[in-house]
Amino acid sequence: MRKQIAAANWKMNLTFQQGEKLLDDIFDAGIDLATHQQVIFAVPFPYLLMTRSETEEVKNYEVAAQNCSDKDSGAYTGEVSAEMLHSLAVNFCIIGHSERREYFGETNSLLSEKVNQCLKFNITPIFCCGESLAIRESGIQNEFVQTQLRESLFHLNEENIKRIVIAYEPIWAIGTGKTASSAQAQEMHAHLRSVLAKQYGNGIAKDISILYGGSVKANNAKELFGCPDVDGGLVGGASLVAKDFIEIIRSLK
Ligand code: 13P
Repeated sequence: MRKQIAAANWKMNLTFQQGEKLLDDIFDAGIDLATHQQVIFAVPFPYLLMTRSETEEVKNYEVAAQNCSDKDSGAYTGEVSAEMLHSLAVNFCIIGHSERREYFGETNSLLSEKVNQCLKFNITPIFCCGESLAIRESGIQNEFVQTQLRESLFHLNEENIKRIVIAYEPIWAIGTGKTASSAQAQEMHAHLRSVLAKQYGNGIAKDISILYGGSVKANNAKELFGCPDVDGGLVGGASLVAKDFIEIIRSLK
């Protein structure tokens, strides 16, 4: 059975102390996760160790980085490699968030290298895809996300594709308060799963978790996560508020 996941993406927010307090407040809620559920905190690099030690005591709570280098090691000032993350026992990493694609020029082919780096060091990539408003309005969103998958993931063999988590994040819904309707989310998630099925077969496609991201809030998570092909969410703004994220965790199937 594929995992149902509530992933927090803190982006570049919170001081170290605020981050610690947020985690404490979330853990104070004492939510026990079922075997098929996972909560993942994608935090800024300097908070990884603190977050790892807060999460390692609690079953199915995990820590993620928000990015890693496409290179092994060397003279790349300011970069962080997948091997470094692995050496901190970080098991997840967001790859290809739309903000990195837009502000840091990350392309599908660069992202395929980052995916490879993660897998080489046993890190599960949370691979983001999703279209802009202009693309949605021109009605070619399905082809657009399909290309993102094909160019960044479809070089993987069956063993490795199973290790990927996908996050569908329509750019027009990120930080805008304009959530995709549950019908729009379900339609795209079913499309993504059918694209995976065509490439790798049904058996594999049905085991891959596909998260929805874009203005997931405490008051819409239950409906979104209730869609058959939506396996939880990648949450920005609402993951910075303990009571909201607690409610989102409680909305997991
Ligand atoms: P918001 O939940 O703030 O819209 O952000 C979504 C996102 O980008 C998560 O990665």
